[in-house]
Amino acid sequence: MLIYEGKGKKLYLTQEQGYIQAEFKDDLTAFNAQKRGEQKGKGELNCLISQALFELLESKGIATHYVKLIENHIMLCKKIEMIPLEVVVRNIATGSLTKRLGLEEGRSLPFALVEFYYKDDALGDPLLNDEHCLILGAVRDREVLQELREMGKRINEILSEFFISRDLVLVDFKLEFGFSEEGELLLADELSPDNLRLWDKHTGKKLDKDVFRQDLGDVKNAYEEVLHRIKGEGK
Ligand code: TMP
Ligand code: ASP
Repeated sequence: MLIYEGKGKKLYLTQEQGYIQAEFKDDLTAFNAQKRGEQKGKGELNCLISQALFELLESKGIATHYVKLIENHIMLCKKIEMIPLEVVVRNIATGSLTKRLGLEEGRSLPFALVEFYYKDDALGDPLLNDEHCLILGAVRDREVLQELREMGKRINEILSEFFISRDLVLVDFKLEFGFSEEGELLLADELSPDNLRLWDKHTGKKLDKDVFRQDLGDVKNAYEEVLHRIKGEGK
């Protein structure tokens, strides 16, 4: 039974209680869905990339909602209570950060910056400070925000180190979290070029959704290259 359809995925209840199936869609959206497109095979690529990255993070002790792959575009996940925040971690200034603060595009930040955005399309996912998060009731207390910050930074360390070994610079990314029935904080959603910015270490070539946002070329080629590099197949 379909329980939720977002911009990138459809979520289904399964026979087994406590689990959901996440089906990755081929749709592409940007700028709060003002720009739309479709790329056949993108759902499968994002699912396989997410699988590899969730498995990497699990092997390093990060608890995630990922259980196993069911089909190339479908993943079995734990059913969790989502926190309505987007946790963005940035290493290099680009995207909305350069627009908001006037920072020079491509400037390395002196430390990994963690930001919270409210997941609300009608409001355009506004940037929040800690007090905003508490007033909105997005989390129960400051400790959860601190835990989200620490998880974001730890995940950044693991992924940055992994990607640089594949000649990719992790520029920034967006995470989502939730609580399991047992009250454990789990990394959820997906880890794909739809929500990670990746630049080639040598050429600076963009290999993520900015290819679609900025009309830079073939989205599928870029995502395929990311999967090949993750698998250590070069390209
Ligand atoms: P931004 O620079 O547009 O704020 O994006 C920061 C990071 O978050 C970037 O890796 C893309 C990702 N992102 C999402 O995954 N979903 C979104 O809705 C937005 C705005 C950004
Ligand atoms: N994910 C958002 C959208 O689909 C924004 C973005 O990724 O640029 O509209």
